[in-house]
Amino acid sequence: MYITSAAVVTIAAVYLTLLIPETKAATPQIISRAQWGARAAKRRSPNLTMHPAPYVVLHHSTGANCDTQAICQLRIRGFQNYHMNSKGWADIGYNFIVGEDGNIYEGRGWGKQGAHSKPFNNKSIGICVIGDYTNRTPNTAAVQAVQRLIDHGVSIGEIKNDYKLLGHRQTWQTACPGNSLYTMMQSWPHWAPAA
Ligand SMILES: *[C@@H]1O[C@H](CO)[C@@H](O)[C@H](O)[C@H]1NC(C)=O
Ligand SMILES: *[C@@H]1O[C@H](CO)[C@@H](O)[C@H](O)[C@H]1NC(C)=O
Ligand SMILES: [Zn+2]
Repeated sequence: MYITSAAVVTIAAVYLTLLIPETKAATPQIISRAQWGARAAKRRSPNLTMHPAPYVVLHHSTGANCDTQAICQLRIRGFQNYHMNSKGWADIGYNFIVGEDGNIYEGRGWGKQGAHSKPFNNKSIGICVIGDYTNRTPNTAAVQAVQRLIDHGVSIGEIKNDYKLLGHRQTWQTACPGNSLYTMMQSWPHWAPAA
């Protein structure tokens, strides 16, 4: 069949017009550092050396979960204090933190090297789900928040389209993100069996 190039362009334009609104991820609300009461970082975090990030690394915090914003914020301030005071890091180690309240909290944010997954810190976005997921999976609100955050990162060019999703244990000798969450995440989009 003969199709003129003008017809092809028209068809492609109509197709894209129909496609884009469906695939564009809705902008999720992200609780800012000011909102959760973050301390100022000791130093500016360096930029990622690979940008957009080719990897997303998932963590659990271990310890208690939280299902209200007030308690989640309390936990996150605790992580930041621990990372800055005990570990001597410049700031909270994660790029983002997610709670079972369904909220996404800003850590170091987009485009920045975290301190969460040596030697992947300079090429990944590190997301921590608050709680211990050794013997149970995070609730639906937390799982959906992680997915919304990743989709948003892809849509704004902060995470590569063909990113690989890894559990922390795939990059370092650790049980993180817990057996149950690690099993669960293997069915998520872009999970990769090897880095
Ligand atoms: C880090 O990235 C930001 C945003 O892309 C850019 O404005 C800034 O110049 C970069 N800093 C360095 C040290 O490369
Ligand atoms: C990224 O970090 C790794 C390990 O920490 C290091 O070997 C590598 O050279 C870094 N890449 C760049 C481009 O800085
Ligand atoms: Zn971890």
